[in-house]
Amino acid sequence: METMTETIELEDAYQVATYKKFPFALERGEDVWVYTTDGRRFLDLYGGHAVVSTGHSHPRIVEAIHSQANRLIFYSNLVYSDVRARAATKLIQIAPELLSKVFFVNSGTEANESAMKTARMLTERKKIISFEGAFHGRTPGSLAACGLPKYSQGVAPMLDGHIRAPFGDSSAVEKLIDDDTAAVILEPIQSMAGVIMAGRDFYHDLRDICDAAGAMLIYDEVQTGMGRTGEFFFAGRDGVVPDMITLAKGIASGVPMGAVLMTEAIAGEIKTGDLGTTFGGGMIASAALEATVDVICDEGLLDNVRENSLYLKAELKELPAVEEVRGLGYLLGLTFKSGDAKPYQAGLLDRNIITGVADDTRVLRLLPPLTLKKPEIDLFINALSDIA
Ligand SMILES: Cc1ncc(COP(=O)(O)O)c(C=O)c1O
Repeated sequence: METMTETIELEDAYQVATYKKFPFALERGEDVWVYTTDGRRFLDLYGGHAVVSTGHSHPRIVEAIHSQANRLIFYSNLVYSDVRARAATKLIQIAPELLSKVFFVNSGTEANESAMKTARMLTERKKIISFEGAFHGRTPGSLAACGLPKYSQGVAPMLDGHIRAPFGDSSAVEKLIDDDTAAVILEPIQSMAGVIMAGRDFYHDLRDICDAAGAMLIYDEVQTGMGRTGEFFFAGRDGVVPDMITLAKGIASGVPMGAVLMTEAIAGEIKTGDLGTTFGGGMIASAALEATVDVICDEGLLDNVRENSLYLKAELKELPAVEEVRGLGYLLGLTFKSGDAKPYQAGLLDRNIITGVADDTRVLRLLPPLTLKKPEIDLFINALSDIA
């Protein structure tokens, strides 16, 4: 096996240099821990990029993938499949009641493209309203809905028909929406922007405004979905249910998978061939999704997130260097009295803890596996207070 230096040299030599990487190579992971090829152990509070919901290489996910791979690795949606059927059933069982159908895809951006395309097809309208600060992915439709300008620099022309409102301002949406608006799309908590939540009324107002205008409401729950907020979905909170939810990241514990959940009414209007993707709902991804839902339920991970997030937030608020802690569950953003979050990210990395930053460089983001418990939270708090 390559040494860490060799691995880094090979990736740098042959992979397109589009990612800013941590300066180490990982060899294995276990729950909230990852191990480098040279034997260093890191506490992963970034959850493999908000992906490893059930922790790294959870034995039940490994077993589900392994046994499915032995039976059948892949066949497309041209055939029926027991494991896909179970995965779809499980996902719909945990979804808000009105969302009773799923279209499987492979990534967050593909889920958003599919949801926006569906809205445009079914309403026969062109406009999509999104929000300043939003991140929805990097393919043309999702990119056009992004409200963080750096992602679309140099890629003109952007797709037509996308307009943006300030996040949290429902009266702005009311002014922009009209009878050519197909959908309003939002991250219920804007993660990349710096973990920003709107006031409670905003979500209610958007539902009412969309209903009045005949537009669809789409929640991009690529980050907030699958338990990260302490509930399976942000949708349903305070009784507000969108017409579609898009999912990816944590839904299959790290096997690439995305999904669009939608109402029966929307699904009923989609005709054969309107949507499609070769790999969507593949057997390995489906097995991983099924096992992910089972693990979250059987191990009480939603309770774990709710309880320990409160503990984590309370401990953070005690630290003199911390200015603000925002977000829900295990989607948290911290700001510091001294400003820039980068020195804290670097200091934590020196102390063997991986965290994330955000588009807003004052924000340190925590997106740990849903399995994170008190002892590791204490390690993090001690390390942070050591820096502060
Ligand atoms: C809220 C949100 N939507 C969409 C995406 C795009 O997902 P993917 O990278 O799987 O295309 C991301 C990725 O970070 C995201 O955070």
